[in-house]
Amino acid sequence: MKALNTLNKFFYKYRGRLALGALFVAISVVFKIFPAIYVRKSFDLVEQALKAYTSDAINFELSDFQGQLILYGIIIIAASLLNGLFTFFMRQTIIVVSRFIEYDLKNDIFDQYQKLSLAFYKRNNTGDLMNRISEDVSRVRMYIGPAIMYTLNTGLLLLMVIPVMLQINMKLTLYVLIPLPILAVVIFYISKKINIKSEQVQRQLSSISTFVQEAFSGIRVLKAYTREDDSLNKFKVEADHYLKKNEELYRINALFFPFMILLIGLSTILTVYIGGQEVFAGNISTGNIAEFIMYVNYLTWPVASIGWVTSLVQRAAASQERINEFMNVTPEIKNESEEPFHLKGDIEFKNVSFVYPDTGIKALDDVSFKVKAGQSLAIIGKTGSGKSTIATLLTRLYDTTHGQVLIDGKPIKELNLYDLRKAIGYVPQEVFLFSSTIGENIAFGIENANPEKIEFAAKQAQVHENIIDFPKGYQTRVGERGITLSGGQKQRVSIARAIAKNPQLLIFDDCLSAVDTETEEKILSNLRSIIKQRTTIIISHRVSTVKDADSILVLEKGKIIEQGSHDELLKANGYYTAMYEQQLIEEPKNMVD
Ligand SMILES: Nc1ncnc2c1ncn2[C@@H]1O[C@H](COP(=O)(O)OP(=O)(O)O)[C@@H](O)[C@H]1O
Ligand SMILES: [Mg+2]
Repeated sequence: MKALNTLNKFFYKYRGRLALGALFVAISVVFKIFPAIYVRKSFDLVEQALKAYTSDAINFELSDFQGQLILYGIIIIAASLLNGLFTFFMRQTIIVVSRFIEYDLKNDIFDQYQKLSLAFYKRNNTGDLMNRISEDVSRVRMYIGPAIMYTLNTGLLLLMVIPVMLQINMKLTLYVLIPLPILAVVIFYISKKINIKSEQVQRQLSSISTFVQEAFSGIRVLKAYTREDDSLNKFKVEADHYLKKNEELYRINALFFPFMILLIGLSTILTVYIGGQEVFAGNISTGNIAEFIMYVNYLTWPVASIGWVTSLVQRAAASQERINEFMNVTPEIKNESEEPFHLKGDIEFKNVSFVYPDTGIKALDDVSFKVKAGQSLAIIGKTGSGKSTIATLLTRLYDTTHGQVLIDGKPIKELNLYDLRKAIGYVPQEVFLFSSTIGENIAFGIENANPEKIEFAAKQAQVHENIIDFPKGYQTRVGERGITLSGGQKQRVSIARAIAKNPQLLIFDDCLSAVDTETEEKILSNLRSIIKQRTTIIISHRVSTVKDADSILVLEKGKIIEQGSHDELLKANGYYTAMYEQQLIEEPKNMVD
């Protein structure tokens, strides 16, 4: 239950509204009692009228009683209306507050998610992250809204109704109230069972969604391998399971109301039976029986709700605990400086080693190199040699295990992280485009985008011609429900996105791999002027991509094995030369786009 304390700050934030809500609850409860009292008065009045009539029919004046009775009727209707009105106000305030808090909580969680490092995302799957921000938050909301509202309502109702009942007749009150605690306990167990079952249903539902999503993302493979029947059978198994779980859920659910009605009936019979005895004994009036029946009806649902609310609170506590687990993670990569940082572009790796935290794979081993501002550095090596890891360290998605990365002579950890990242144009190896328009994708990293900037970047990346060939040009949607770009087109859009930022440091991580050598040549010659003005890191496994760089690093298993310009490396006649000669032979095959 302690987990729920995290929410106190929100209660404090909305204390005014919550207090108002509590006031509305109190008022609505007061108006709820009125009808019962006036029903009793009416009954008693009718009884009195009957007595007067039977004893002296000649002098009996109906109008003596009629006016009174109509007045009672009006009071009953008015009080019921007011009760309804304040119940409406109560829901308006308390349930709305719960929605406010839900909104705040979601924003907080999303903000925290964005701060967490890549390592965190490696450890936790997306489904888990999504569940906490959607399902868990809505469970917590049930605690904030309905749970608090019903608790207030029940508490105040018991507090006001029971004294009134006791005042009328102690014995009757005790008898009538006996079934209620049993009701609360039983409802608690039923709700708990219902919750467990509905969680199973929910889990099965998300399992179905995952299955369907995967089937349709991979629809090409699925069709090409004619696995439709097999896929349908698997789906049926999942759907069967879902059906079964739902059947189980509704078997228990169906118990809920009959059980409540049974207990209400029991209380009513007790009221009439014991009440009748008390009337004969002259302790209460017949009107009191009617009044009591109304009280019993008022109390049944709130008392049953104690059981329901308890199970809600338990569930909310478990959910909040899951939320807190992620909220309390301190991001491994933190910004250590608020000072603005303007990147010049000097880079130095000083004996850098890097081990991936969860796998223990040593990706870089004692790597040292320097790049002066405005220079270009190329990194070449086979897959798995650690090239991308260098890019990851430069953007500080991870921190080094040993050694230091220095930017403009200062350790990267001491710089303003956001300014650093703003100054970097990074084209990751795995292209990712958001499902929006091509234009918006290119403009992703810039604050004040305009069509000229976007077009300029696209032209530099050699993708402008392709884009204007689409009927909607830059407004063409990509991703789901949009067009599918070829691998090479995607890479070039991704390059345009980096260029559009006009960054001080450009990092191209193997981003020309899906482009044929001819286009590559064009892109590189286009980029020449851009590359000249800033520090550029070009990562590739192809000699053709790297040969013009000021300096080239050859990586093998995380170590630098050769270093120098293209000509120097060829003179050295080592690993690089061997790669070069091999790729010259393979060149014609390199048409991938
Ligand atoms: N996120 C990661 N978690 C764990 N190991 C990784 C991760 N990324 C890369 N590696 C491992 O680190 C080594 C270097 O990878 P990488 O830098 O991507 O090489 P390259 O870019 O040269 O292909 C590889 O052995 C790879 O399996
Ligand atoms: Mg790589």
